[in-house]
Amino acid sequence: MTEQRAGSPFVRLEFRDKIALAVIDNPPVNASTAAMRRGIVVALSEATDRKARGLVLIGAGRNFISGSDLREFDGALAEPELPAVIEAIEKAPFPFVAAISGAALGGGYEVALACDARIGDSTALVGLPEVKLGILPGAGGTQRLPRLVGVARAIELIASGRRVTAAEAHELGMIDLLVRSDLLAAAMAAIGEIAPGKRLLLQRDAPPESDAAILAAERSALSKAGSHGAAATAIEIIKNAATLDAQEALRRERDAFNRLRQSAEAKALRYGFFAERATRQAFDAFPAKPRTIEKIGLVGGGSMGAGIAMTFLAAGYPVTLVERDEEAVDAARQRVRGLLDAAVSRKRISAAVAEDCLRRIGFSAGLDALAEADVLIEAIVEDMAAKKRLFADMAAIAKPGAILASNTSYLDIGELAGVMDRPADVIGLHFFNPAPIMRLVEVVRTQKSGADALAGAFQLVRRLGKIPVLANLGEGFIGNRIYASYRQQCEFLVEDGATPEEVDAAMEEFGFAMGPFKVGDLSGLDIAWARRNRLASKRDPRERHVELPDRLCKAGRFGRKTGAGWYAYPDGPEPRSDPATGRLIEAYRREKGIVQQSFSPDDIRARALGALVNEARRVLAENIAFAPGDIDVVMVNGFGFPAWRGGPLYWAMQQDRTTIETMIEIAAAVKGSGFERAHSSENAAPDRRA
Ligand code: NAI
Repeated sequence: MTEQRAGSPFVRLEFRDKIALAVIDNPPVNASTAAMRRGIVVALSEATDRKARGLVLIGAGRNFISGSDLREFDGALAEPELPAVIEAIEKAPFPFVAAISGAALGGGYEVALACDARIGDSTALVGLPEVKLGILPGAGGTQRLPRLVGVARAIELIASGRRVTAAEAHELGMIDLLVRSDLLAAAMAAIGEIAPGKRLLLQRDAPPESDAAILAAERSALSKAGSHGAAATAIEIIKNAATLDAQEALRRERDAFNRLRQSAEAKALRYGFFAERATRQAFDAFPAKPRTIEKIGLVGGGSMGAGIAMTFLAAGYPVTLVERDEEAVDAARQRVRGLLDAAVSRKRISAAVAEDCLRRIGFSAGLDALAEADVLIEAIVEDMAAKKRLFADMAAIAKPGAILASNTSYLDIGELAGVMDRPADVIGLHFFNPAPIMRLVEVVRTQKSGADALAGAFQLVRRLGKIPVLANLGEGFIGNRIYASYRQQCEFLVEDGATPEEVDAAMEEFGFAMGPFKVGDLSGLDIAWARRNRLASKRDPRERHVELPDRLCKAGRFGRKTGAGWYAYPDGPEPRSDPATGRLIEAYRREKGIVQQSFSPDDIRARALGALVNEARRVLAENIAFAPGDIDVVMVNGFGFPAWRGGPLYWAMQQDRTTIETMIEIAAAVKGSGFERAHSSENAAPDRRA
């Protein structure tokens, strides 16, 4: 017998045979808000009044509770706070069962941990991702999860913030029971088993483990997350689960949570979260119907083309890849196979999925194979004449309405659109290397790109699980242009007396994943060399030009792939200082009569970041990017700018204004002729997308 009761707008309440069913309904994603928390408390009290035997918590839509609404975290938290709701659940006179379909993340999973059992279906996705936002689980997650899976495993899960899918969650014990169908029936049956008792996690001890196992988990987690930031604090708090009284441990957890959520780092990460969301949704503001894209055509199966193919295959799309001739087709096929094999051996995909991917890709040496494709993406050599020929051919064979896209890093896509009579179909889709891993894609619009083509591209990139960022035309679009200014200052530093190691260390200390010279070696110094050669005739002779990278290239030192660049790679991918580079630099300075200066890490950062921030502001002022947040998203997701500093424009806004102005002045003086200053207030420019 089913009876309706009112519950609250966010948590509907029904009764089935004395079991209360609380349906959490806060569209679109069932985020936890104060109103939802109140709804759970109201449902609990009504169920108590009705003498329920138990209560099943279940989500109305695709998710259980997707997590806390981050907008709350800046100010004072509204009552009831989550720990109070959780305490009420534990003190209820009947058992609670969490019926988990879809996401139960962060605060959502903490609610599930407070229940007496957790039942999931195959869509369940659980985890405590808080440290990724610079905080830690603050409603008992750090104390209940270790009691369920052990301290060592809890350290791994919480410090990485990783989301765990149904099968693994069941294996680890994060979900007690996994069902194929009828989640609700299984949850009600669980109430039948537990009632009238309770099975609270907090009343259990964490399973016994050796100190060595916990220490090993701690070391491994810190080496991945870095000793800086929320993960380190979270680990200390998790360890209390085995040593402290539960109530005391919960108090310490909450204190740490409240401290961290107000930290500059957590604020920057929240800013980044919302900036990314605004970026992804940029096209929702445009009234264009996105073009439908189902069949993918690629031209060029080199390192980028193969990576892009792999990305689409992994997302379930059918792909046709065209190369120049049969021999090149074979090479491209080997490359795609290699990427799939590597993904299998790293356990990113299963062997069965890899097989399925191979069945969905076709190869051809003729462009006609792409006549039916909805989008044709070229990733052939970076050469304007070759790309122009190709675009004319693509325009001739592509079906009406198909999008013609270039993956070029720097070339003028408007010029490519000029070779045909269908320029509205032409856009840029700039993937980053390695395409299957990098989440960023710059979607480039020419003056003639159709809004429906751009909107289609946005939808497509989002379906790949990546972040589309809209960019207007301009040499290097958003990211490569800003990065080039930064890298140039780093080269000036080496010319003036710093070592590449000193510059890399200063920027890594700031938080970059890798210093600029290691990045250069990784991506290949020959690419920038080719570009410099292309632009050599246009270079203003008054502009400062560092020849060092050219000399490295002339010596055959292209970076990691040739075993040496700025660094040497004698034993694999780890860069080692190379005395030969030092000698090359010294000889160069002698020849140019440069007196070597020494630089502190702060001196290095002032120049490099001054140039970076200035260029970011120019990109915004020139309308290459549409919003400050777009630039920050690009630099964090494509160029290793530390996420916990928000991005260059956000970071600059947090600094003292004169400090930033001085940095820019220094960078300007160092470069001299050709340095163009952005107006200082430009990083506060409003969002121009809407
Ligand atoms: P690559 O040299 O590895 O691959 C180019 C491939 O295109 C080769 O396999 C070649 O056989 C094929 N090709 C050349 N002309 C062709 C034609 N007319 N028809 C069919 N296939 C043809 O180059 P890579 O590194 O993959 O770069 C490709 C494009 O992607 C360039 O425009 C580059 O600027 C851009 N890009 C490169 C990035 C990188 O880090 N390598 C990052 C982002 C964009």
